[in-house]
Amino acid sequence: MSEKAAKTLDTAEGTGVGAQAKGHVKEPLNVVVGVSGGIAAYKACHLVREFTEAGDSVRVVPTPSALNFVGAATFEALSGHPVDTGVFSRVDEVQHVRVGKEADLIVIAPATADTIARIAAGRANDLLTATVLVATCPVVLAPAMHTEMWENPATQDNVATLRRRGVIVLEPAHGRLTGTDTGPGRLPEAAQIAAMARTVVEAGKFGRTLKGKKVVISAGGTQENIDPVRFIGNRSSGRQGFALADIAVHRGADVTIVAGDTDELDTPPGAKIVRVQSTRDMKDAVDAAAVDADIVIMAAAVADYRPETEATSKLKKGQADDALSTLHLVENPDILRGLAEKREAGETSAVIVGFAAETDDPLELGRAKLKRKGADMLMVNSVAGGKVFGELRNSGWLIGADGSTEDIADGPKHVVAARIWDAIEKISSGAGESIRQN
Ligand code: CTP
Repeated sequence: MSEKAAKTLDTAEGTGVGAQAKGHVKEPLNVVVGVSGGIAAYKACHLVREFTEAGDSVRVVPTPSALNFVGAATFEALSGHPVDTGVFSRVDEVQHVRVGKEADLIVIAPATADTIARIAAGRANDLLTATVLVATCPVVLAPAMHTEMWENPATQDNVATLRRRGVIVLEPAHGRLTGTDTGPGRLPEAAQIAAMARTVVEAGKFGRTLKGKKVVISAGGTQENIDPVRFIGNRSSGRQGFALADIAVHRGADVTIVAGDTDELDTPPGAKIVRVQSTRDMKDAVDAAAVDADIVIMAAAVADYRPETEATSKLKKGQADDALSTLHLVENPDILRGLAEKREAGETSAVIVGFAAETDDPLELGRAKLKRKGADMLMVNSVAGGKVFGELRNSGWLIGADGSTEDIADGPKHVVAARIWDAIEKISSGAGESIRQN
């Protein structure tokens, strides 16, 4: 077995603790960035940078029409490698075979309707499609086109064919397209594409395993107003919740995110997003979406208390009632606990997953919290010394209601998200029934 095939197998089969540690691929990757002929081709330059700055080796393989948008010299300078488009360049090196065989990952961004159609049909009429046909590594396509082209049954059939064969076709983002039209069809940002592509290699197992599942994920921090300019709230970037949403979308789920305050993150393409501010707003939105959900994940950092009254005018320092120095707080509802109670009352049958960020004794406190909340699983992490908030990586332990504990090795938040989903899928496929009855 080739080294590359062995590596892919390691990652694809990694579900247990030891296997996951093995599947954490850290060595630089040989990445082929394919570029097809669409206006978003300029964003491929940023994508090349994402990989080279992470230490990966990049070969850019544009289609001939991509060079109408960005010149070969730009791709050569950014990647440090020569750029060819046809199977008849450098024939002595048999490029269309060599480039595909050496690749650990192929990412095509933008993937136009025509390139998607040619790959689905197994064509090999340029260097890019020939490379894809030869490759045995993961292939990730990031489509970009007008909404009508994306929604056309021809394109949708081609996408379904490719996904059935194991090609990862990312959801296009929703937004401004060329000209004045808006809708699904926009190329996601380079960082989003790179994060998903890297996860496919590091976490492996990227089937449509959540197809038909309705998933609700809360993310970010809630805020409680003191007056029109001040609030109390919890710290959270929303990154882990968004990464969970990204993975769920690409495993085929129908995903609703209920988001409080998040860093300026790009929203995960393909997910619906409901924006809320306070804990009570979040509870209303989560409860409404949970009614017919299969899985609910509370990744949000929820403000436990709110001021008893919200001042309608800005409070001033040194006023007679000294309202600012002595805030009277009342407890907010516990959304997670409330979901478990709804399930006990038969109002939802969702698998319920929570998060816990602890500074001391994370495992012991996590186990007690899981019991108190009535959830099926809790992802516990240590935030001692301000760790994790806003960071790109995470680690911790997944504790189950059956008493199980699984180490989640340090990794990018998307990779951690993929591992959390592997565990949730086990519960949701029925193995969880016994957990819940315990
Ligand atoms: N949570 C919730 N509603 C709340 C508080 C927390 O749904 N009012 C959820 C969080 O989204 C998370 C889990 O409960 O999934 C644990 O949150 P955490 O703040 O750690 O728990 P608390 O019950 O607030 O306990 P602590 O005293 O440690 O803050």
